[in-house]
Amino acid sequence: MPTLHLRGATPAAAEADLLALPVTEEEVKALSGPLADLDRRLSGHLAAAVRDEGFTGKADATLVLHTLGRLPAARLCLVGLGTRRGAGSPEALRVAAGHAARAAGRAGARSLAVVVPAGLDPADGVRAAAEGALLGAYRFDRYLSKQKPARPERVAVVLPRGQERAAAAKEAARLAEATAGAVAWARDLVNEPPAACTPSALARAAEELGRAAGLRVEVRGRREIAALGMGMFLGVTRGSAEEPRLVKLSWIPKGAAGKRPPLVLVGKAVTFDSGGLSLKPTESMVTMNSDMAGAAAVVGAMRVVAALAPPFPVHALFGACENMPGGRAYKPSDVLRACNGKTVQVTNTDAEGRLVLGDVLAWAAATLKPAALVDVATLTGACVVALGPTVAGVLGPDGPVVEAVLEAARRSGEELWRLPLPEALRDNLKSDVADLKNTGERWGGALTAGLFLQEFTGGVPWAHLDVAGPSHTTKERGYWSKGGTGVPLRTLVELVRSWKPA
Ligand code: BES
Ligand code: MN
Ligand code: ZN
Repeated sequence: MPTLHLRGATPAAAEADLLALPVTEEEVKALSGPLADLDRRLSGHLAAAVRDEGFTGKADATLVLHTLGRLPAARLCLVGLGTRRGAGSPEALRVAAGHAARAAGRAGARSLAVVVPAGLDPADGVRAAAEGALLGAYRFDRYLSKQKPARPERVAVVLPRGQERAAAAKEAARLAEATAGAVAWARDLVNEPPAACTPSALARAAEELGRAAGLRVEVRGRREIAALGMGMFLGVTRGSAEEPRLVKLSWIPKGAAGKRPPLVLVGKAVTFDSGGLSLKPTESMVTMNSDMAGAAAVVGAMRVVAALAPPFPVHALFGACENMPGGRAYKPSDVLRACNGKTVQVTNTDAEGRLVLGDVLAWAAATLKPAALVDVATLTGACVVALGPTVAGVLGPDGPVVEAVLEAARRSGEELWRLPLPEALRDNLKSDVADLKNTGERWGGALTAGLFLQEFTGGVPWAHLDVAGPSHTTKERGYWSKGGTGVPLRTLVELVRSWKPA
């Protein structure tokens, strides 16, 4: 990741290989704000370029021009924020900064400076510009034998002179750097092929992160998972030649605060989901190395949690395994027993995430006495049908946890939309031979999955985030590169930052 710096300067005085200036459509039209001064210094060439290239300042548009020695910055990059109505949000700036980082890469710039537009709170602006630029510079290229264009090595966020010394601005820069680093860590794991990111490799990566961050780490293997009675988890992993892992990372503050009821995050960690004997079709299977994105997000968030050092405990848990067909695989019509004693008839081996999560949620609820449980999972294609590929679903009973998650998402810039847990669908999960079956009927698949998970939350206040859509992207978008996005890591960070311990 590039290094991050704060600078105090006017746009005209900022030094960089590429200086990015986010602008609204209104500013471009009137050539107002910092554009007027820059155009004067460039002898009208800026206005000419804007006109000739048809740059209007709409969102996602960029215009790069060489400054021919007229400015300390070698190149100027105008980045569209859209119309003023949408342009005032930190997220618009985050997206613009992401485009700026890509433009810097294309121009071969080693250093990028991003101007925080006036009108935004400076700390919010620093955070958004820094996160956008650092994440926009992200690339997963370790398996490419031909090098792509370089990316910037240094990112500077530019504030009006003096403001760069404010404690809030410095704090925002530190938080953005920690968050972007964690997101890049999570993206890397999501992007790794499944032969590299096996359950034990994922556990090792989490363990390394935890140790480096000063967290408590526990890693359990098959025998301990069996001893805990996690029959659903064991059922899913049976068809795989890879060993399962149960991992717990814990932030526990010193003193009395360490005894408070914890916030517990649980991530889905299926390192490859073939569907099992209910095998997926070829095309649906290709991206199923990303079926551990929930775990990557909750573990990545823990790195930021360790830096935030909140005055209450936070745990991140995941049960890692593969879902594979094979001679030992669990079968449709098998009956599994969860660690909370509930029995489940398997009607579809491709509904594996809820089985592993159910065991881990029940274990967390019983052993950690959480103030709240939040699980993150690439759980259903139905959620993608409902909300599209960029919006995550949040399900859970009415109450402060779902509300806090929605509010955290709003502040983070990640898109989250609430879905219901309709009582009418509960009957779908009734089985003739066991307490539950693992799939309902087709309609409302994301909701049935939520209702299934709820059976394992032990009445603990809970929210379930279905990130099957936005955890992964097939299109470059804003500060998202193709592949893992890190969603909803930033929401989790905001949730911890705003959490009020009981
Ligand atoms: N990992 C998938 C869900 C998924 C689908 C994630 C698309 C990302 C993109 C999950 O394990 C799954 O297979 N769910 C099934 C559930 C069904 C069998 C009830 C699904 O969505 O089809
Ligand atoms: Mn599946
Ligand atoms: Zn899955």
